[in-house]
Amino acid sequence: MDGRPPFRGFVTVAARPPQPPGLECHHFDAFRCRSCSLLEIPRTQQLSDKEAHARSLVPAPTWLPTIAGPDAGFRNKAKMAVGGTVASPTLGILDRAHHGIDLRDCGLHSSGLTAALEVVAGFITRADLAPYDVSQRTGELKHVLLTESPDGELMLRLVVRSTADEARVRKHLPWLLESLPSLRVVSLNVQPSHAAVLEGEREIVLTTQAALPMRLEGLELALRPQGFFQTNTQVAAALYAQARDWASAIDPATVWDLYCGVGGFALACTAPGRSITGVEVSAEAVAAASATAPSGVTFVAGDATEWALGQPAAPELVVVNPPRRGIGAELAGWLEASGAPHVIYSSCNAETLADDLARMPSLRPVEARVLDMFPHTTHYEVIVLLAR
Ligand SMILES: C[S@@+](CC[C@H](N)C(=O)[O-])C[C@H]1O[C@@H](n2cnc3c(N)ncnc32)[C@H](O)[C@@H]1O
Repeated sequence: MDGRPPFRGFVTVAARPPQPPGLECHHFDAFRCRSCSLLEIPRTQQLSDKEAHARSLVPAPTWLPTIAGPDAGFRNKAKMAVGGTVASPTLGILDRAHHGIDLRDCGLHSSGLTAALEVVAGFITRADLAPYDVSQRTGELKHVLLTESPDGELMLRLVVRSTADEARVRKHLPWLLESLPSLRVVSLNVQPSHAAVLEGEREIVLTTQAALPMRLEGLELALRPQGFFQTNTQVAAALYAQARDWASAIDPATVWDLYCGVGGFALACTAPGRSITGVEVSAEAVAAASATAPSGVTFVAGDATEWALGQPAAPELVVVNPPRRGIGAELAGWLEASGAPHVIYSSCNAETLADDLARMPSLRPVEARVLDMFPHTTHYEVIVLLAR
């Protein structure tokens, strides 16, 4: 054990007081946005339904109390489609006819994001950035992607069709930085295709600072524009704390963090003398993770399966946190045969998790926990400790 107390930061389902009916949202009521498909279901029921779903798929003998996190204001990232006009842009979603629906007051966003989106809308007008019109295929600005760190600092990415407006964005950037003093990183992401894709490959960072420090419950992470970060800061902290507590109890000498993103699990599992390797396909995420890596922790850019299959021996603990598709047959088969005594599998899709567990019958679930990373939707995170 590393001497730190187990994580106790959140009210668990068992201890929660009675909840009011679902969150009030005038966009939902007016059928302008129905993204929160469970909004009318009381949060307590959402949570018990998610637990029941997870338990039906993952045969763990022990379920730790669910981590609920807050009902509203929990998102650290706003992904806004831009519509409307230069004079009156909308930031939100597009309707079926591709007209913009403004969701700047979305109740899921942190208050810092909500306040900053107002300033970003003003910047669009000031810098004369024409919203991209999907029907006409005219205009430039497609999406605004805004992230707020736990310290309240901001990263803004403007997804544009081309670099045609770059000079105007640069010209008005000083106004933006002055109007939003917590803004640290600003970039243009170039997404030239007409396809419904959120962002493109090319990123032009416009500020001196290229990474946003993400300090989370003692973890010093950093996020660069194309890196992944869990969208619910408080629940992410609880997720990493859970992995840290299990790793402390196992006390492995060697750990792999596969699909590591900016390294949350790897950094949560550090201990004196322990060697940790994180593997991640996004070079940007690996660059950000490497910049914060303490001694003993190494990050590698590459495909998780290919990398694991190329190693001479398995470590004492493997952490996997794949995208919704799961780790798949090849990596699951390799883990099954590898001899790794412990695996921590954190999943945002219990169905692909169940498929992967069926491919690793020698690794049995010991303990599991549901974490409601995505309130008011059917999605959630589930983390499982497996032992051989
Ligand atoms: C659910 S995220 C988890 C990230 C990280 N563990 C965290 O807590 O923030 C999945 C990550 O897997 C990465 N990824 C996707 N396909 C991959 C692959 N084939 N090999 C390695 N990493 C991959 C994505 O870029 C993303 O960062």
